[in-house]
Amino acid sequence: PSIGLHPRDMNRIVEAMHRLRDAGNTLVVVEHDPAVMLAADRLIDMGPGPGERGGQIVFDGTPDAARNADTLTGAYLGARKHVGIGLRRFVNDSTPKLILQGVREHNLKNFDVSFPLQRLTVVTGVSGSGKSTLVQDVLVPALLRHFGKPTEGAGEHDALLGVDWLADAVFVDQSPIGKTARSNPASYVGAFDEIRKLFAVAPLAVERSYTAGMFSFNAGDGRCPTCGGSGFEHVEMQF
Ligand SMILES: Nc1ncnc2c1ncn2[C@@H]1O[C@H](COP(=O)(O)OP(=O)(O)OP(=O)(O)O)[C@@H](O)[C@H]1O
Ligand SMILES: [Mg+2]
Repeated sequence: PSIGLHPRDMNRIVEAMHRLRDAGNTLVVVEHDPAVMLAADRLIDMGPGPGERGGQIVFDGTPDAARNADTLTGAYLGARKHVGIGLRRFVNDSTPKLILQGVREHNLKNFDVSFPLQRLTVVTGVSGSGKSTLVQDVLVPALLRHFGKPTEGAGEHDALLGVDWLADAVFVDQSPIGKTARSNPASYVGAFDEIRKLFAVAPLAVERSYTAGMFSFNAGDGRCPTCGGSGFEHVEMQF
C-alpha cells in the first residue's frame, strides 16, 4: 500500500492500518517499506532469493527479532547492510543548470529554482506540496514549447533559462508507452523496423518475396491471425 508515498504519508497509512486492526480486523500486507515492516505485529520474511532460489519462509517472528535474523531483510533492518548511493557527481557553481524563475502556478509561491544539468535531481515533498505542478505543469510544458513540440500551456512563471544547453526534452511518466497493447520497447524506439529488414533479406524470405512489412506482428498478413498480434485472446463473457 505504500508505493510512491512520502514518509509522512506512510505514517498515516500505518495509523490507518493499526485502526483497522484495533477494530478487530486481520490485516495481511505485502510490503517492502521498513516503516510498514516495523509497524507489524508479526513479520514473515520469504526468500532466501528470487524465483528458483526462493520459496521458503526464512524468518517468522516480531519485527524486532527480524533485525537480528540472518536473512537479507534482517541485515538491512538491523543496519548491517546499507543501500549503496552509487557514484555522486557533485554540483558546484560552474555546473550548467536550467533555471525556472518566478514560478506561481497553483500553490507555488513565486520562487526561482534551478536544476543542475547532467545530474540526477529529485523533487520530493508531502502530498499536495506542489511537485507535479512544478514538474508536470510548469517545467515540462515550458521545455516542450521551447523544442516546438505539442504541449498544453505552461503553468505561470516568468522565465526558463539555460535551455540552450539541451538538445531535447522527454517526459517519462507512468502512462503506457504506446496507444496499443501491442507496442513494446523495441517497436516504440523503432528498433523493430531494423529487425524486420533483417528478416526480409533472409534467404527464405527472399525466395517467398516477403517484404519487411510481412514481419510486423501488429498488422497485415504477418501477424498471428488468431490473436491479431496481441499475444492473447480476449473472450467476451456476455451471455
Ligand atoms: N488543476 C488544478 N487546479 C487548481 N489547483 C490545483 C490543480 N492541481 C493541483 N492543484 C493544487 O496545487 C497544489 C499542489 O498540488 P500538486 O498536485 O502539484 O502536489 P504534489 O506535490 O504533486 O502532490 P502528490 O504527492 O499528491 O502528487 C495542491 O494544493 C493542489 O490542490
Ligand atoms: Mg503529484
